[in-house]
Amino acid sequence: MQNHLPIGVFDSGIGGLTVAAEIQRLLPGEEILYFGDTARCPYGDREPREVVQFATQIVDFLVQEGVKLVVVACNTATAVALPILVDRYPIPVIGVIEPGARAAVSDERGDKIGVIGTAVTISTGAYERAIRKLSPVQQVFSLACPKLVPLVESGDTDGPHVDEVVESCLLPLLACDLDSLILGCTHYPLLHNSIARAMGPNVRLISSAEETAREVKRVIQMEDGWRRGGPPNHRYFTTGDPAHMATVAGRWGIGVANDVQSISQITLLAPPRVV
Ligand code: DGL
Repeated sequence: MQNHLPIGVFDSGIGGLTVAAEIQRLLPGEEILYFGDTARCPYGDREPREVVQFATQIVDFLVQEGVKLVVVACNTATAVALPILVDRYPIPVIGVIEPGARAAVSDERGDKIGVIGTAVTISTGAYERAIRKLSPVQQVFSLACPKLVPLVESGDTDGPHVDEVVESCLLPLLACDLDSLILGCTHYPLLHNSIARAMGPNVRLISSAEETAREVKRVIQMEDGWRRGGPPNHRYFTTGDPAHMATVAGRWGIGVANDVQSISQITLLAPPRVV
């Protein structure tokens, strides 16, 4: 592992900043190179083939820029592309689904786990497989919530209207007597308060961001890949409007610097250098 290089983190948009922020919190000495594919967001109702293509373009770009490890901070991309990305690159590639599943299974309060995510994530059954692999006795209840990403993208994360939409989406899970609920989409932690109100105090909400950051730490520790040097200089790229990314992240309290760089999809389509 090339210690001096940043950790590459990507998402279909700005939601993955929740994961980047957690990595920054846990590993304050490490640099992050964040990529948000806002121009092509959402991924959650696209053909899986297309999501694989986008994810590959982005990781090609990150590798060309120089990163020592890649975090797929998008549940949809993790669900359909992780094994392909792991095979394709010589550096570690970490997804968000296994860490989220691990966090849910390690909760000893009960064995009824709910999972909410995009249509693609839920249709792949990736969370169910990851949970069953860790603990075959768990009961898993999965639900696609396609209305929630547009809500967050529009900047709506709190208030009576948000509560109403969230509650109507989660209705099918209310009768399941869940012990925990995995927020299986980068955007959902931003609706934490509304989701908590809808599910009630007995359901523990699990976001994979923290556990993913711990996994990044484990891998860097294992490979003795710590960055040594001065304060980190995080960099942010988006295929969308850089000012929008900076503003929304600021509103969410995810401290993004103002110098978000714009990158065109054309650049992404350029043939990658051989890695
Ligand atoms: N980042 C996606 C995920 O975590 C949500 C947004 C989208 O649909 O692209 O599944």
